[in-house]
Amino acid sequence: MIRLPHRIALAAAWSIAALPALADDAVLRAMPKAAGLYERRLENARSGNLPPVYQGSASVVPTRAQTFSVSLGLPGFPQPRGHFCGGVIVDPHWVLTAAHCVSHAPGGGRSAARALEPGQLQVLSGSTILFQGGQTKPVTRTVLHPDFRFSAAGVPENDLALLQFAEPLPGRPIPLASDELAQIAARGGERIAVLGWGAARFAEESPISTTLLYAFVETVDRGACNKAYDGAVTERMFCAGRGLADACQGDSGGPAVSYNDDDRMVLVGITSWGAGCTQQKYPGVYVNVAAYREWINGTIGGK
Ligand code: ARG
Repeated sequence: MIRLPHRIALAAAWSIAALPALADDAVLRAMPKAAGLYERRLENARSGNLPPVYQGSASVVPTRAQTFSVSLGLPGFPQPRGHFCGGVIVDPHWVLTAAHCVSHAPGGGRSAARALEPGQLQVLSGSTILFQGGQTKPVTRTVLHPDFRFSAAGVPENDLALLQFAEPLPGRPIPLASDELAQIAARGGERIAVLGWGAARFAEESPISTTLLYAFVETVDRGACNKAYDGAVTERMFCAGRGLADACQGDSGGPAVSYNDDDRMVLVGITSWGAGCTQQKYPGVYVNVAAYREWINGTIGGK
């Protein structure tokens, strides 16, 4: 059983639906494009076109969460303004994030993606508020999952990357969910929580949040999700959140969590893609981290 402790169960959801439903022909346009997220963000930042910042107020995360959520930023554009993706501490020296966050534009199809150089990003950890406290640490190595690519449908597959740090990060790593828990979540109808500084509304110029927000989302059975997404959701992804609450732009790479039997948070997913945000018809799609346990432990263990 996936349970959520009572103490945070009353928190308000974020990403309240504010837009009319997307027309079906708009779905493809709203899906991530094979073009690089990072290049776009950096180009915008250089031309002075940084995203506006939304002063988050509701649903501040439970303090325990600040120990594992991190913000990926553009160097030279300190957070909050440089924030472009989330990440999660899985080991004192390692952050797990989405590969599409930390790679140069892959050509799509067969061409391999190239990881960003460590100097092309900075990671803020140890704070839930982007301009207050925390430590910015340099990355020493970026490792993309070897099979990361964009599918023909334009969605990221095996969308995981690991960032290595020379010094231990402030904060406690979050353990990966067991296979059993991961299977339960993927079955649908289970409540999990998703965390991030991403947009609270889906729009061209959607502001990021200065405060780490979280929302409870219900997992959606893969069959139903695949009907909406035309079969693009693989066995190593799961879907969650329709209508009301969802992850959104800027949340990618961040954690989706559940609770194990001792009421401790465990990592079930990494925010990866979705058509728009908070669409009744189109759930958010997450990397199922349990399916990558060997790659994660092998990479971390091998240093
Ligand atoms: N790809 C987005 C990002 O880079 C995350 C999208 C998640 N979308 C969703 N509807 N759950 O931040």
